[in-house]
Amino acid sequence: MSKISNMSRHWLALLLATLALIIGMTATAAPAAVAAPDRYGADAAEEIMRAGGNAVDAAVAVAFALAVTYPEAGNLGGGGLATLVMNGRSYFLDYRERAPGHASAGMYLDAAGAVIPDASMVGARAAAVPGTVMGLWQMHRKFGRLAWRRDLAPAVKLAKDGYTVSEPQAEHARAVIESLAGRTNFADYFRLQAGQNLRQPELAATLARIARAGVNDFYRGRTAAIMVAEMRRQGGLIDAQDLADYRAIWRAPLTASWAGYTVITAPPPSSGGIALVQLLKMKQLAAPLFAGLGLNTPQYVHLLAELEKPVFADRAEYLGDPDYTKVPVERLIDDAYMAARVGAISKDRPTATAAVGPGLAEHHQTTHFSIIDRWGNAVSNTYTLNDDFGARAIVRGAGFLLNNEMDDFSIKPGTPNMYGVVGGAANAIAPGKRPLSSMTPTLLVRDGHVEMVIGTPGGSRIFTSVFQVISNWHDFGMSLTAAVAAVRVHHQLLPSQVIFQEPYAQLDAATIAALEQRGYKLEQQDYNGDIQAIAVRGGEVTAAPDPRGTGVGRVIH
Ligand code: GLY
Repeated sequence: MSKISNMSRHWLALLLATLALIIGMTATAAPAAVAAPDRYGADAAEEIMRAGGNAVDAAVAVAFALAVTYPEAGNLGGGGLATLVMNGRSYFLDYRERAPGHASAGMYLDAAGAVIPDASMVGARAAAVPGTVMGLWQMHRKFGRLAWRRDLAPAVKLAKDGYTVSEPQAEHARAVIESLAGRTNFADYFRLQAGQNLRQPELAATLARIARAGVNDFYRGRTAAIMVAEMRRQGGLIDAQDLADYRAIWRAPLTASWAGYTVITAPPPSSGGIALVQLLKMKQLAAPLFAGLGLNTPQYVHLLAELEKPVFADRAEYLGDPDYTKVPVERLIDDAYMAARVGAISKDRPTATAAVGPGLAEHHQTTHFSIIDRWGNAVSNTYTLNDDFGARAIVRGAGFLLNNEMDDFSIKPGTPNMYGVVGGAANAIAPGKRPLSSMTPTLLVRDGHVEMVIGTPGGSRIFTSVFQVISNWHDFGMSLTAAVAAVRVHHQLLPSQVIFQEPYAQLDAATIAALEQRGYKLEQQDYNGDIQAIAVRGGEVTAAPDPRGTGVGRVIH
């Protein structure tokens, strides 16, 4: 008997050990995933994660790779925002650009106070102090597992050996060259042919220096000197002091409870997180109005537009760099405030634009990638040059594009920026200040596990796009792929009663007619974002790039 029981104990122990091994293997072998705006970004993430890198190593590799292969928005000369969950804790890194020390409120106005066309858009004078290299460096210092140089290796190789230019990219660059008519040095670098292997030797040398010397090269060393010389040539304002002074900032992420999730997203200087939380909460509070409505039916689109109006009114009035302006974040997402805003929406006719005020007493490029690693860490990263190819001006000798992020400030109160959104004093230009963003890198977490990583480019379309995809996925139970691909619309208070749609996927004719009948004007825009999202549902990982772009989603086993 005791012999049998010993045997049983032996087998039981063996069984338990085997089970533990299987469970352990499953825990460490959870698939990683990436959704990136091109295949080179996805390749870089995969290479680094297979080499033992975590989500941050992969993010660093993707961001530098896209600075080579996706010059429309991938960058060294821009800035961005990242929301992270690492080792079970959430973080937010603000590496947004800052206004140069010599910037001033009226710098893009003429003597009569009128906005000088394109002054905040084209050339080095439109550029704010870049934050990307510092941001990636600080992220890597805090969390990276692999050597910095290893994470930069895919980018250095792509710049040195070349990558294949796509048809849309070549076409896009051609259109930019035409519109610039020789005002900047853009055509010297980006006269592209589809299918060509583009080698970028100056950029390769810059990346190799950054890989070797780290962040000091870009902000105090050789690259800094080249950048300052370019500023002198082009009449830009960024000087050596601006570069030496630049720091990315670890801020508390904006968090909110919604539908059983913790939404972890971007606080100011982005408007995106506040706007996303407002939209999610208001839609939930307005559930009786939405009950039984089909996705993108006339009444559904009308109610979305009604929710978006107060969000844009608040954005214009209250939001700016929190280091310069007191932003009433908690009050803006307070449940009672949201309920009052929902109470004021019109059930069936569009509310007059002029009647929507602030409620308390952006072919626009940016790019996003989402990463989750095998340990469940996640990085949701949106970074940008602002417009496609930024200020369309290259730092000659260093081979990278400058941003035109200064246009994200309110250049003149009440005058719309390139995204058609207006701003006020809270977002006026001041030396060292960060311009208001709409970037919304977001994570949804439930019971300590990341269940969604999401974000998109699109300027003021960013948070309305993220909101619609989350809502499609959660409220309509769609697969992530279907939720991303579905028709998206956009309304932003101004222009008055305009609902934007896009060529990719349109509302049907009957819906358009019904909306026009209610007083809406339907307008076309180039596109409504380029979502890169990952979802983890029931243990299954899905990476969903937006079919609107050239993105690649990959689950890495
Ligand atoms: N430049 C686009 C944004 O920050 O929203």
